[in-house]
Amino acid sequence: MSTRPLILVIDDEEIMREVITTLLEQEGYRVSWAATGEAGVEKVEEESPHLVLLDLMLPEMGGLAALEKIGQIDSETVVVMISAYGSVGNAVEATKAGAFDFITKPFKNEELLLVVKNGLKKRSLEIENRQLKRTLKERDTFEKMVGKSEEMQQVFDLITQVAPRRSTVLVVGESGTGKELVAKAIHHCGSRSKGAFVTVNSGSIPIDLLESELFGHVKGAFTGATSSKQGLFEIADGGSIFLDEVGTLPLDTQSKLLRVIQEREFRRVGGLENIKVDVRIIAATNVDLKEAVEKHLFREDLYYRLNVISIMLPPLRERKGDVPLLAEHFLQRFSQENDGPDCRLDPLTMKLLMECDWPGNVRELENVMERAVVLAPDDGLITQDLFPRELLASTSVRLGRLNSLENGASLKDLVLEYEKKVILTALQQADWSQKKAASLLRVNRSTLNEKLKRLNIKIP
Ligand SMILES: Nc1ncnc2c1ncn2[C@@H]1O[C@H](COP(=O)(O)OP(=O)(O)OP(=O)(O)O)[C@@H](O)[C@H]1O
Ligand SMILES: [Mg+2]
Repeated sequence: MSTRPLILVIDDEEIMREVITTLLEQEGYRVSWAATGEAGVEKVEEESPHLVLLDLMLPEMGGLAALEKIGQIDSETVVVMISAYGSVGNAVEATKAGAFDFITKPFKNEELLLVVKNGLKKRSLEIENRQLKRTLKERDTFEKMVGKSEEMQQVFDLITQVAPRRSTVLVVGESGTGKELVAKAIHHCGSRSKGAFVTVNSGSIPIDLLESELFGHVKGAFTGATSSKQGLFEIADGGSIFLDEVGTLPLDTQSKLLRVIQEREFRRVGGLENIKVDVRIIAATNVDLKEAVEKHLFREDLYYRLNVISIMLPPLRERKGDVPLLAEHFLQRFSQENDGPDCRLDPLTMKLLMECDWPGNVRELENVMERAVVLAPDDGLITQDLFPRELLASTSVRLGRLNSLENGASLKDLVLEYEKKVILTALQQADWSQKKAASLLRVNRSTLNEKLKRLNIKIP
């Protein structure tokens, strides 16, 4: 089957059909035609065109009636109305009834081509969105996590395997990769889900309070300890404790933690009594604990105890295939939370998002999407201008990875590659206006034009 879009022209004027057909065929589209509304509707049924150019003034079944029928047959078909000068009122009515847009006769070739191009873009966007929503529902989600990449599938499998057991799990990954979500998923999928899930962020608790927070204290243990207090380990009894940023635990506390893991018991600060608990420990770190061990900042024995099972969360830049799914997931969530329009991304913007490096990983993507939803226009279409400039600027200009030099590479080719990236970035920042891009790059229009041709850069 050909992948070239099929366009159906429904117009009773033969000369009009011929002009449009020639024009569209020159642009590489496949074209089919019908001279009446009835014949056109039949063709929609038989051929499922991607887009229909529909004359408003047709004998017998008029354009508006045909529009309605076409919508009933296939709601994905994009209809562009062609109206005669003077019947713009009807054309507006048609767009209200579901037509994508209208053009008025006589029209310029570029005008027609632009409407067709935009219509087809809208169609593919809608189809893509629908597929994304379907996949989101079917699989690709695990607890509150989204991801279809091979890497994330492995993470989901591991969580399923370790959840029913009691062994300690170490979750490793850069900031914002989802370590806390993984810890919660382990808790929820296991037999302890009815017990508490207690989070301890060791990095944010002052060191002198840390032990009393974790293990509790008895009355009079230190100045200010006016009564005895339960620690987080006791609160988590029967459930799980999540030790976030475990690498920041002071060495003293590390040895006490080791004891809890080995003996399953501890003493409150200042206390003499051993308290037994049944707690599953899930720890997370975004630093290399092995390196910390080598630098004597982390106890080796504790490292091995924690690392019985480790789950590595890959950075988002290593699983860019998950970006569209995550983006769509956040769009849905924030659109709902904001009570605004149902937001969607235009395909070009989605492509750009996939090119970003996401140093802040999923959290960064989440924040960027929230901002875009809040700033989205009434029709909910999110375009690249709603994203922070720095984000998009980081995408294209990256000196071609010079590891290609290992086998030698021509300086000329490398320079050309770089030139292309710089020009693309300028164009993106200028919303693809060549005039603005030329001024950003401080060259004149004709120089830019010549470079676009030479470097084979196409303006979308
Ligand atoms: N796979 C995912 N699907 C959906 N949301 C995700 C996913 N991964 C992360 N998130 C979201 O991204 C944000 C960051 O995740 P989380 O807090 O778990 O990361 P983290 O690795 O603990 O980060 P840090 O090291 O900075 O604490 C959260 O709002 C979380 O809901
Ligand atoms: Mg975290």
